[in-house]
Amino acid sequence: AHQWRGVITEYADRLPAHLTEKIVTLAEGGTPLVAAPVLSERTGAEVFVKVEGMNPTGSFKDRGMTTAMSAAAARGAKVVVCASTGNTSASAAAYATRAGMVCAVLVPDGKIAMGKLSQAVAHGARLLQVDGNFDDCLVVARKLAEAYPVELVNSVNPDRIEGQKTAAFEVVDALGDAPDIHALPVGNAGNITAYWKGYREYAGIATSESGPGAAPVAVATRTPAMWGFQAAGAAPIVKGHPVDPETIATAIRIGNPASWAQAEAARDESGGVIEAVTDDEILAAHRVLSAEVGVFVEPASAAGVAGLLSRAERGLVPAGARVVVTVTGHGLKDPQWALRTPDGGDVVPTRVSADVVSVADALGLE
Ligand code: F0G
Repeated sequence: AHQWRGVITEYADRLPAHLTEKIVTLAEGGTPLVAAPVLSERTGAEVFVKVEGMNPTGSFKDRGMTTAMSAAAARGAKVVVCASTGNTSASAAAYATRAGMVCAVLVPDGKIAMGKLSQAVAHGARLLQVDGNFDDCLVVARKLAEAYPVELVNSVNPDRIEGQKTAAFEVVDALGDAPDIHALPVGNAGNITAYWKGYREYAGIATSESGPGAAPVAVATRTPAMWGFQAAGAAPIVKGHPVDPETIATAIRIGNPASWAQAEAARDESGGVIEAVTDDEILAAHRVLSAEVGVFVEPASAAGVAGLLSRAERGLVPAGARVVVTVTGHGLKDPQWALRTPDGGDVVPTRVSADVVSVADALGLE
């Protein structure tokens, strides 16, 4: 019997050595790659979803937090800080607890989902709600880490990218080679940067700068086209300039992504695209994932599927292409959207009395 040991131990030979000295882990990674026949049918491709909500704190952030926190622990850090739209703060709080560190989180006031807020509080983080958006929070967090003995664990920290690249390794390990297309949501643009790094390394094109895995042993024969999707109200890369962000997908409500240039490099080097999807398209994709694929995600997580469906409608998905879409965070983080009807009304539960005839009636059974 083999229990998954977390991404650092599983992929130690492909990570920089300083990450393996003092491992802080919650056994993250090893998430399911789920075939999605409904999406395959709709797109004419062969579609899989990488279900990152199955990580210990319910999002992909845990992959980067095990590495960032392990590096911080090896350096003897006592305090970490992050700016967050919610998931990073939930993850940082959990891993800091595990490492015995103090965790400060800066979140945009009123703009993070209740589940994520609860996680940060439950794990004992020093939660500060900032009068500003994510981009403002990140500016302050960076300055704090420069001026005080505090480690920054946002994805501008290269250790975060090292951990998150393991998701690409897992996809290749599961499929036997890289897919043709990899689609995912883009917010601060750390994740698209990390996947592209992972795919390149597994194809023997690049190596981890400082790692023992300096030998470019190829596992994959190729790399996928990276398709990134921003929310239309928070699409600075698509528009070509920073924006004042607004979207129901609060996780990606970001107007000036820190890894902007790296995201453009991933797009251009891979022959991919970065496009915008509307909130309505995001919510429609959220419904398809819940009601037809069987995977419950938070709205931002549906942006990749929304983008894939939009491109399919425009005839831009090659027939038979193998497509992996990362769904980044769990639906229970921000469950309110499931209780809305497509036209914006409230879902009203059917009430019945506690007898079998009423229940059978309500179900329309004869
Ligand atoms: N999906 C979810 C659920 C997220 O929480 C995020 C980012 C993204 C997608 C976008 O990933 O930033 O690497 O491009 N959330 C960050 C946070 C910003 O603070 O939790 P990205």
